[in-house]
Amino acid sequence: MRKNIVAGNWKMNNDLEASKLLINNLLQEFPSKLDASKRIIVAPTFVNLYPIVEITQNTAIEVAAQNMHFAQSGAFTGEISATMLKGIGVNIVILGHSERRSMFNETDEMLVKKVESALQNKMEIIFCFGEMLEDRKSGNHFNVVEQQLTNALFQLNESAWKQIILAYEPVWAIGTGETASPEQAQEMHAFIRQIVSKKYSQELANDVSILYGGSMKASNAKELLSNSDVDGGLIGGAALIAAEFTAIIKSM
Ligand code: PGA
Repeated sequence: MRKNIVAGNWKMNNDLEASKLLINNLLQEFPSKLDASKRIIVAPTFVNLYPIVEITQNTAIEVAAQNMHFAQSGAFTGEISATMLKGIGVNIVILGHSERRSMFNETDEMLVKKVESALQNKMEIIFCFGEMLEDRKSGNHFNVVEQQLTNALFQLNESAWKQIILAYEPVWAIGTGETASPEQAQEMHAFIRQIVSKKYSQELANDVSILYGGSMKASNAKELLSNSDVDGGLIGGAALIAAEFTAIIKSM
């Protein structure tokens, strides 16, 4: 069932103390579970996942990892697997973030394996994708987005999509202060729903939550989230400030 979701990607920010402070501030605003159509997710760094899972147990806030390795275990120094995340109560993982793709050479082939591993481990996936500025300027943005989804997700069977949340994040809008206009966001989200519908079914497409990411903040959240195909946001910078993140959640 399609849900409204506000997810905060803390990236490589907040040590343990700052993570606890931020989560406790958020819990003061949202002490109890929201209605079933709405979800709040935060994605701290790996080392702070467990304490945040403990603090948020039986609250409105769910916890996601920012990445994971595709193998279950083995000689992969410095990596973390899906089973390890599940073992500490993390059931959601962000995959394919543009920073992982561009700075850590994450390819579609690797993402296919990561998606498979997450699904096998019954994790939900927030799958990120989006075009670069030059794609947008050359009018190639729809093709790029379709290709990214085709390469990483369109091999999945229908039932796997219950575990997929899509996050359209135009790379030119991430951390730049520049945001897609509400019209640009709606246009792309409608396109995404249409290609998912063509590949699978209208029913499945209607059920998928499609989040927008890229400089979403308190001041532009309402306008972006008021679009019929924008089901929520994946928020970086503004998720680090309790008052900003709270205001975004309240706009959904
Ligand atoms: P931003 O990051 O909100 O700081 O642009 C979004 C993201 O990377 O998910």
